[in-house]
Amino acid sequence: MTDRSFRFSHAITRKPARSITEGLRAVDTGAPDLARMQAHHADYIATLRSTGATVVELDALPAYPDSVFVEDTALCLPAGAIVMRPGAPSRLGEAAEMAPHLETLYGEVRRITGADSFIEGGDILMTETEILVGRSARTNAAGIAELARLTADWGEVVREVHTPPGVLHFKTDCSLLDAETILSTPRLSASGCFASYRVIDVAEGEEAAANTIRFNDLVLMPAGFPRTRDRLLAAGFDLREIGNSECAKLDGGMSCLSLRFTPRG
Ligand code: GLY
Repeated sequence: MTDRSFRFSHAITRKPARSITEGLRAVDTGAPDLARMQAHHADYIATLRSTGATVVELDALPAYPDSVFVEDTALCLPAGAIVMRPGAPSRLGEAAEMAPHLETLYGEVRRITGADSFIEGGDILMTETEILVGRSARTNAAGIAELARLTADWGEVVREVHTPPGVLHFKTDCSLLDAETILSTPRLSASGCFASYRVIDVAEGEEAAANTIRFNDLVLMPAGFPRTRDRLLAAGFDLREIGNSECAKLDGGMSCLSLRFTPRG
């Protein structure tokens, strides 16, 4: 065990752009408020930094309204980074914008290049022993197969699973809490895909609490989900609640806002 899936020296974030109001969303619940989102984002970054990590803040990219959700652009593994090929046409160009930053921080960067391959980081859950990838409207079988090929010589094992119907990303519905434990919605854990893990289900009606991140000693969770918070506190996790009301309007959460990694030394 290396704790590779939750102990990190670095994170990359990107400032939200004014164009965030044009961001993709499954259901329109109103335009996100940029000033409130910036305040939440600052709190998020300060919380990551409080663990001792280096957090890179990239400039806003107005041409890409969803570019604050950097997680979808890459997968950061101990041996190197893989640049994704987002399945949302308006987000495809975000991956190329991220690549040079990864090249600076990492020795080795590989790319998903297949014309038919689509894969977004939000569909990927890295654990200590495997990489689970949920097929979704944004991630297809060709993208998952290409990821498996690109990472095989790094010793990675990729397992294809399914994102629940109507859910944006696999990790919309789950998070890794420690080497053995996953927080999940009941609709996802019922699929059996976490059979070899200890699962904590979010409370009924609090499905949006499932997207948290374990970052070093802390678990960052969206504010406003008291019954799930109490379950995590009872399980002994050191929690920080972060405002997420504006990102939630765009189906975004804690994991979407950063790439988390430890560059190869
Ligand atoms: N709004 C985030 C996404 O749809 O990718």
